Amino acid sequence: MIDIAIATCSYHPDLGPLDRGVIAELAELGIRATPLIWTDAKASLDPFAAVVVQSTWDSHLDPQAFVTWARRVHAQTALFNPLHLLEWNLNKRYLLELEQQGIPITPTLWVSAGSSVDLRNEVTARGWTRFVIKPVVSAGATETHVFDVAGIETAQATFDRLVARLDLMIQPYLLAFETEGERSYIFFDGVFSHAVRRPPTLKSAPRGFDQSHEMPPIEAELQLSRQVLAKIGETPVYARVDLATNNDGVVRLQEVELVEPCLFTSLAPGAQQRYARAIARRLPNAPK
Ligand SMILES: Nc1ncnc2c1ncn2[C@@H]1O[C@H](COP(=O)(O)OP(=O)(O)O)[C@@H](O)[C@H]1O
Ligand SMILES: [Mg+2]
Repeated sequence: MIDIAIATCSYHPDLGPLDRGVIAELAELGIRATPLIWTDAKASLDPFAAVVVQSTWDSHLDPQAFVTWARRVHAQTALFNPLHLLEWNLNKRYLLELEQQGIPITPTLWVSAGSSVDLRNEVTARGWTRFVIKPVVSAGATETHVFDVAGIETAQATFDRLVARLDLMIQPYLLAFETEGERSYIFFDGVFSHAVRRPPTLKSAPRGFDQSHEMPPIEAELQLSRQVLAKIGETPVYARVDLATNNDGVVRLQEVELVEPCLFTSLAPGAQQRYARAIARRLPNAPK
């Protein structure tokens, strides 16, 4: 038996419900995977040949603590995804880099903490009648707010409160989230595994459907997802590429998740096994 840990958060001590099946698949491969709550300061890393970051869904609440923890793990054992990919992916400014390399992303106004911005000017200059303000380090729609130009005073107040301490991004509100949702293309070891259609994470958003479900990949979207992966430089153990249709009907990158995405492996036949094999291939001495 090889022992590894799969990192999670305190409120999912058995991993997220949609991905915990990987533990049984790893056992089939002779790998004992134990959930490890990353915020548990007493947890020892000694038994583990590797730590796979999977369901650490509270990491964005204290990104510095998370990075410190990841660096400690990296210093002691194998860490997946690799430390530099985790660090790169925690701040959504990576989207700007991908855009500079030719990947179409949702139009975004990037604002550094402490800046003063006249929201009315900025959004009307771009023709955005509805828009979203969110932190560049976030997950699960934390501090993600939707406003109309008609409510610009409230928007400005929220913006001013957040920008005092956080780097922010502002985007046009994509209407397609409400009807067709976001599409997530999931890859293990650089190989496409499955695609999922997801309703908005934002609780307040109207939605045409409630549950994420597997969907057949759309060829053009799969190609775009592959282009995104190719820009990452190193093949991650897992990656989730989230795409959304913009208000002009063009599909663009919304985010690529390398830190802690739900991978929806329970929704797609064979996905848990593909995930387990991708982990196993990274472990020295593991049966492949
Ligand atoms: N530009 C946008 N248009 C419409 N909804 C958005 C937009 N950006 C974010 N949202 C809503 O907020 C949720 C979270 O935003 P997202 O960019 O996916 O960040 P994260 O998943 O890291 O919190 C989305 O699932 C969606 O419901
Ligand atoms: Mg998201």
